[in-house]
Amino acid sequence: MRLDTNFKQKLESLRLAFEDVLSDYLDRTLFKPQILNESMRYSLQIGGKRLRPVLMFACAQMLGGKVQDVANLALALEMIHTYSLIHDDLPAMDNDDFRRGKPSNHRQFGEGQAILAGDALLNEAYLICFEECSKGKTYRNAALAICKNAGASGMIAGQAADLYWQGREGAGAAESEFIILNKTARMLMSAVSVPAYVYDADENIVALFNEFGKNFGFLFQITDDLLDVSGTFEKTGKTVGKDAKEQKLSTVNLYGAEKCRELADHYEGLCHKILDEMPFESAFLQELVSYVRNREG
Ligand code: IPE
Ligand code: IPE
Ligand code: MG
Ligand code: MG
Ligand code: MG
Repeated sequence: MRLDTNFKQKLESLRLAFEDVLSDYLDRTLFKPQILNESMRYSLQIGGKRLRPVLMFACAQMLGGKVQDVANLALALEMIHTYSLIHDDLPAMDNDDFRRGKPSNHRQFGEGQAILAGDALLNEAYLICFEECSKGKTYRNAALAICKNAGASGMIAGQAADLYWQGREGAGAAESEFIILNKTARMLMSAVSVPAYVYDADENIVALFNEFGKNFGFLFQITDDLLDVSGTFEKTGKTVGKDAKEQKLSTVNLYGAEKCRELADHYEGLCHKILDEMPFESAFLQELVSYVRNREG
């Protein structure tokens, strides 16, 4: 019980630390025309769990570092994540009217402006990554990981495969794994590996962090697929039942919900095991894994 309270407090304090980083950024940026400024801010500010920044901050602390050391890269990663959600919701992709409990970006600003808000967030995130590179080689490695995981060998590849297999016969476990690894796990691998790069951890540690991020990504996407059939709009902020309607190659559509719950347990177990193997104090991350397994939103 005490642990649980500590966990929730720490989760909230890391989330708030990120909200401060984001507010500082928004206070010093003003884009023109006004509609671009508004549409970028809209999606950044309508909420979201901030899981990727929280994970990055927690890993930085686990390695003995500080939130501040990775604050700008956490901002860049959340901006890339937010752009990916704006584009993911477009009629040409998942056609979702709601995101984070509010009308999705294109419902609020129109499709063209939503595409541009996404493009702008991506480009501004890369600008931040470039600026971080001036801090030296460790930061260059960290920024490179973010860019690689977000690009054509990462999240975009997963999104392309996700769209390709929509409504198409012939896909199985291999295709599903490709989609999840790339569209979801790569961004979480960025979150956990950035601190490892920044603090110049040896390559075995970087590999262990990436392995953790990958399995955490699978756990996260399977629970996302489960919430699409058993979650509520109030808790997820998204229209439920979309994956079946859009004939997505989601894990639930491929394996059924019961098998997915088993798979989620499997990946949860793997995440705990990897953390156990790490030579660091990992109580918070252990709890975060269980929290993601049991999440309702
Ligand atoms: C949604 O990510 C996209 C997936 C990878 C499933 P999140 O569930 O982290 O979205 P927000 O940031 O909390 O809105
Ligand atoms: C989206 O996966 C992953 C990315 C945006 C990269 P989903 O399409 O399942 O995410 P939701 O359910 O719309 O949040
Ligand atoms: Mg999608
Ligand atoms: Mg979607
Ligand atoms: Mg989903």
